[in-house]
Amino acid sequence: MIDAKTKLCCIIGNPVEHSLSPKMHNAGYNALGLNYTLLAFKVVDLKSAIAGFRALNVRGIIVTIPHKQEVMKYVDQIDETAQKIGAVNTIVNTDGQLTAYNTDWIGALLALEEKTVLDGKTIAVLGAGGAARAIIYALKTKKTKIFVFNRSLKQAQELAEDFQLDGAYGLDKTKLISNTDIIINTTPLGMEPHENNSPLPASSIKETHLIFDIVYTPNRTKLLQLAIKNHARVVYGYKMVLYGGAKIFELLTGKKAPLKVMEKALTGGLHKYA
Ligand SMILES: NC(=O)c1ccc[n+]([C@@H]2O[C@H](COP(=O)([O-])OP(=O)(O)OC[C@H]3O[C@@H](n4cnc5c(N)ncnc54)[C@H](OP(=O)(O)O)[C@@H]3O)[C@@H](O)[C@H]2O)c1
Repeated sequence: MIDAKTKLCCIIGNPVEHSLSPKMHNAGYNALGLNYTLLAFKVVDLKSAIAGFRALNVRGIIVTIPHKQEVMKYVDQIDETAQKIGAVNTIVNTDGQLTAYNTDWIGALLALEEKTVLDGKTIAVLGAGGAARAIIYALKTKKTKIFVFNRSLKQAQELAEDFQLDGAYGLDKTKLISNTDIIINTTPLGMEPHENNSPLPASSIKETHLIFDIVYTPNRTKLLQLAIKNHARVVYGYKMVLYGGAKIFELLTGKKAPLKVMEKALTGGLHKYA
């Protein structure tokens, strides 16, 4: 029940109406009997929003597109990992001090490790934006060979330089992409309302591949449909939301996240759930 002691958390983004975070986190708070609640706010004026959250002593803020980088200007501390990644997705308010973290990397790492051992693998990362940076940070904690493929070659080259990757190419180099063990899509290709798009043709996907699509609306993207048809193994994007969300839950409440409850809340909200 909400009362005068309820700790308020929020998710900010633009758009944010599609977010499944309120469902997932509130289910977790309820399961543990925590006097917390999480609401979604569409935010345009980010600086004023953060000042408002400070004034209201909001406990925590989940940050999504397009604010993950700009918000770094308005917090008091940035955790070392988030600094290396160059983007944040969680802000914790401790006695008025705002500290920012990135949990996308751990979400991706746990989602992948559920299906494979990463050491020794050669990996193609499609896309070179904020999510790619977090995922590459995660992959670099293991003994992996990483190649990045992006629409804008310059962006891929910059990313490869920042993280000392093994190569940077255009997205059209499908033959090179198909010669890897794991393919990770971090572009929005395949996301609603463009769910008929795939970043790769079926001919690039082999039975031996593990294909991870971080797009989670729809759950079974076009890329994952092609992968399943070609008998490849797949990792669904919602797993990254779940495991990254569990880490956020722990940062905000200090309690271990009730994963099963949160997963049920999350998948119940995904249409076309596989
Ligand atoms: N599952 C999860 O937990 C999770 C977490 C974070 C993000 N995501 C999803 O990941 C996606 C990317 O997020 P982000 O934060 O990395 O975005 P971002 O920083 O804007 O980067 C987008 C990347 O995708 C590429 N791209 C965009 N439109 C494209 C198109 N039409 N064709 C080919 N490439 C295109 C961009 O290439 P250029 O450099 O050429 O522009 C860029 O490399 C979004 O769909 C987001 O919802 C999922």
